[in-house]
Amino acid sequence: MRFCGVLLVTLVTLSFATTMQAQAPAREPVGDLAQVMRSILFPNSNILFDTQQRDPDAPPAEAGTGTVSATFASIYTGWPLVETAAIALAESAQLIAMEGRLCQNGKPVPLGDAAFMQYTRDLVDVGRRAYEVAKTRNLEAMSEMTNEVAGACENCHAEYRRYPDENRCTAP
Ligand code: HEC
Repeated sequence: MRFCGVLLVTLVTLSFATTMQAQAPAREPVGDLAQVMRSILFPNSNILFDTQQRDPDAPPAEAGTGTVSATFASIYTGWPLVETAAIALAESAQLIAMEGRLCQNGKPVPLGDAAFMQYTRDLVDVGRRAYEVAKTRNLEAMSEMTNEVAGACENCHAEYRRYPDENRCTAP
């Protein structure tokens, strides 16, 4: 019944929020860049890479039980899941480029670096195009598209994720 509790709290909070003045959340980072990569880019790009081996039209796996994630794992599936994963990658560029974001080693994300910023724009571009391809439901084209997605990750990593030390996040 924990889920019902969460839902109730959410509903109460929502109705309370509508009575207050509208205020956007503060635009400040919570995690470091590696954490954004692990939580948003990694799982969403894997959903796209899955299309190399598994047709999103194939019947979804049996819903698991036990945890909330397992129970609801089969709600968003198939091509719509692929579409939203592509959107997540495109949108994640804003999070990567958020003012004040630090890398894991404490250095600021190199937002003043033209090449780095180009790679963030390339990520928007590849995410948008992957979204367009996902909408066509063409498995072969999607599988091809994942190579470009991997390329957009790799291009930036080759220059900025090269060393797992204090030089990381610095142009070579
Ligand atoms: C604009 C540059 C850029 C792009 C594009 C980019 N990354 Fe990264 N990524 C980085 C940097 C820099 C780090 C190191 C972050 C740190 O040390 O805080 C990193 C780290 C990571 C990590 C964490 C590695 C670890 O230490 O555990 C993962 C996972 C990752 N990236 C996945 C991806 C994927 C998947 C994509 C493409 C969908 C992607 N990244 C695109 C720059 C980028």
